[in-house]
Amino acid sequence: MKIVVTRAIDEARLSPLEGHHLVVWPHQTQMPHDELVAELSGATGVVSHLTDRLDRETIVSAGDLRAVSQVAVGVDNIDLGVCTERRIPVGHTPDVLTETTADTAWALLASAVRRIPEGRDHVLAGAWGPWRPDLLLGGDLHDTTLGVVGLGRIGAAVARRAAGFAMKVLYAGPRRKPHLEAELRASYRPLENLVREADHIVVTVPLSESTRGLIGTPELEAMKPDATLVNVSRGPVVDTTALTEALDRGLLAGVALDVTDPEPLPADHPLLGHPNCLVIPHLGSASRRTRAAMVDLAISNMAEALGGRRMPACANPEVYG
Ligand code: GLV
Repeated sequence: MKIVVTRAIDEARLSPLEGHHLVVWPHQTQMPHDELVAELSGATGVVSHLTDRLDRETIVSAGDLRAVSQVAVGVDNIDLGVCTERRIPVGHTPDVLTETTADTAWALLASAVRRIPEGRDHVLAGAWGPWRPDLLLGGDLHDTTLGVVGLGRIGAAVARRAAGFAMKVLYAGPRRKPHLEAELRASYRPLENLVREADHIVVTVPLSESTRGLIGTPELEAMKPDATLVNVSRGPVVDTTALTEALDRGLLAGVALDVTDPEPLPADHPLLGHPNCLVIPHLGSASRRTRAAMVDLAISNMAEALGGRRMPACANPEVYG
């Protein structure tokens, strides 16, 4: 069976797919969409990445496709609806990246709150003079209130770490999670209350039509003047124009984004002109160990599907119903 793999992956990690006709894009950069569409003709499976556009048209044109396996937990680049209609299981990589992504969220939060990038800029600009008591004063993490938007796997792992900083934890989301409330000593708040009460807000919800633009002008205006906002989910969950305007108006003490809209963010984008806005290039799960585990899970999802078995991690399990 023909399987398209959209980024270069170590041959050893592909061994569970031995015996199949593998078409592996030999680069770490994105496979151009027209090449992807051309290669999907006659393909039974595709091992995809979050930048591959697997929309309705692409899936429909790939008439022989029986399995999609994405090397990411988020699958917003894939039309899940059409895959489910066609009984194509879509694999993804939850769990294996949870802790690394939560670590990244905390790295961003601590950096923004303690103004680490501004300190580095100051040193590199040659502005470092004799010590002064008023230089780059920031906020605190300890004894503050953390607001987690979306208490899924990653959100819960972010909240779990807050205990080490003696923080109060609030969360917002589409439903209450009593077992996590007890474990994490977290309290539920509607989003409009959470943004008012939290000192630091970390966004971890998946992108969907209901979360697109979830953090917009009303939410940003409601945040405390010294609030910090971190996004490790998907760029469009935070409205970029609203965020840029909020920073222009001096709202929020700090922003730290692992994801942006658009992505990549052009080097001359106004957000990058704000010294209190830290942007990193979508590195949430980017540890060596976790990226290897993601590939292994994605390959195992594909191998199981090709063998006629249930994928270990499927984003549309209703196909098995
Ligand atoms: C990364 O953003 C992922 O969805 O795994």
